[in-house]
Amino acid sequence: MSINYSERIPNNVDLANDRTLQRALEHWQPKFLDWWKEMGPRDSAAADVYLRTAIGVDAQGWASYGAVKMPDYRWGIFLAEPVADRTIGFGDHFGEPVWHQVPGELRSQFRRIIVTQGDTEPASVEQQQRLGLTCPSLYDLRNLFQVNVEEGRHLWAMVYLLHAHFGRDGREEAEELLSRHSGDVDKPRILGTFNEPISDWLSFFMFTYFTDRDGKFQLKSLAESGFDPLARTCRFMLTEEAHHMFVGETGIGRVVKRTLEVMKLLGSDDPAAVRAQGAVDLQTIQRYMNFWFTSSLDLFGSEVSSNAASSFANGVKGRPDETQYEDHICSDASYELETPQGRETVSLRNAMNEVMRGSYIKDCELGLKRWNMAIQRAGHEFKLNLPSPRFRRSIGAWVNVPTDPAGNAVPREEYDRRMPEWIPSESDRAFVHSLMHRVVEPGKMAGWIAPPDRGINNLPVDYEYVRLHS
Ligand SMILES: [Fe+2]
Ligand SMILES: [Fe+2]
Repeated sequence: MSINYSERIPNNVDLANDRTLQRALEHWQPKFLDWWKEMGPRDSAAADVYLRTAIGVDAQGWASYGAVKMPDYRWGIFLAEPVADRTIGFGDHFGEPVWHQVPGELRSQFRRIIVTQGDTEPASVEQQQRLGLTCPSLYDLRNLFQVNVEEGRHLWAMVYLLHAHFGRDGREEAEELLSRHSGDVDKPRILGTFNEPISDWLSFFMFTYFTDRDGKFQLKSLAESGFDPLARTCRFMLTEEAHHMFVGETGIGRVVKRTLEVMKLLGSDDPAAVRAQGAVDLQTIQRYMNFWFTSSLDLFGSEVSSNAASSFANGVKGRPDETQYEDHICSDASYELETPQGRETVSLRNAMNEVMRGSYIKDCELGLKRWNMAIQRAGHEFKLNLPSPRFRRSIGAWVNVPTDPAGNAVPREEYDRRMPEWIPSESDRAFVHSLMHRVVEPGKMAGWIAPPDRGINNLPVDYEYVRLHS
C-alpha cells in the first residue's frame, strides 16, 4: 500500500476512514510541531536538507530522496505490510493468532513499553539539538538531520499506537511525551542515558553506535510482539534505524582513520602529540567508548527480571530474531548468570534481559573488529576494547561493585580515583569540545575526521547536502 501524501498526516493505516482517530492525531500534530521548533535542531528551519522520506513501506518506496526544509518534513504513520495468518512466535501463547487489539489484561504492560520506547525518540532529538552548530561537514550535518527527523517519526509511530489503542490514557501519554525533556531537572526523560548531554560529535557518533543499537535490539524484540500493530510499526522503524547505526559506525571509523593519518604523519603515537595536531588520540576514543557502552548496557535492565519474564510469557516482547532459537516457550529452560556472588542458575524467562544484552554486545563487537583492523594495518599495537559488562553499571547485579574496565574488582578508593582514566575526564571533554568548529563548505571536513568513503545515495562527497541560506 503506498502512502497518501495529500493527507495532513501521511499514513498507510487508512486514517481517513477513522475520523475520531484522525481528529485526535490532527490535534496532537501542531503540538508536535511546536515541540520540534523549540527542541529540534537549532537554526535549521530555513535550510534545504537532502533527506530521505518514506513514500511507501516496500523496498522501492521507503527511501525517496530530495531537498526538504525540516519543518515541512512529512512525519507520517507507516506500518510494515501485515504477514498473512501471522501467529505469536513465543511464550505461553505460542502458535495462537496475533492480536489486532491490545488484550485487556495486558493493557498496562503494553502501554508502559510503548511509552518507554516513545520517550527515547524525542529525547535523542533534544540531546542532539545544538550539534548542527559545530558540524564537521555538510555531509555530517545532513546525516544528523536525517537521524533527527526519523527519531521524530518514531515518536509519531508510538503516538499512533497510543491514540489508536489506548483511548484517553493513550492521548494523555502522548501529551506527556512532549512535556518531559532530556536532562530536565523536574521532568526528565524516562531512561538515564537519554538525559546525558550530547554536546560534541564524538559523543554523537558513540551515541548512534551504542545507544541507537540498543534501540535496534528493543525494536527487534518488539517486532516479535503478539500485538501485531506494534510488531509492524517496529519492523518499519528498523529499516530507518539502520541508517543511525551506519552514522555511528562510519563516524567512529572516520575519527580513527584520521587519528591514524596524523600518527603516521608525526611518526608517533604519543597522545599529546596527536592532540597537538588537532586529532583525537585513540586513548580518548576508548574512554568515550567506555562511557557510552556502559551507559547503554543499563538500558536492557536487570539481569534477573520478573518483568522481562512476564513480557515474554505473555507475548508482549520476544527475543531479538526469535526464529534463531529452537525453544520458543522457555518454560523450563535455565540460564547461567555471573553475579558478584558467583555463578547463579536462574530460569531462562527471568534472564531475558541478559539474553538480549548478550546479543547486543556481540553486535557491538563487529565495529570494533573493523576499527582494530585499521589500527593494526597502520602498524600499531593499540587495541580498542569493549569494557566488561560488570564495569560502571547503574542497574542490576553489578551496581555498587567497583571494578576496572576489564571487570576486575578494585577497592572503592581506587575506583573513584582512577575513573578519569577510564571515562572522559573534564579535560578530555574540554579538549574534544575545542575541536568542534563548524565546517560548511561542500566537501570540506574538520581536521579531526576523515572524509567518508562515499556520499549519500550515490552522490559525491562534496555535494551540497544542506543549503543553509544564512
Ligand atoms: Fe528511533
Ligand atoms: Fe535511532
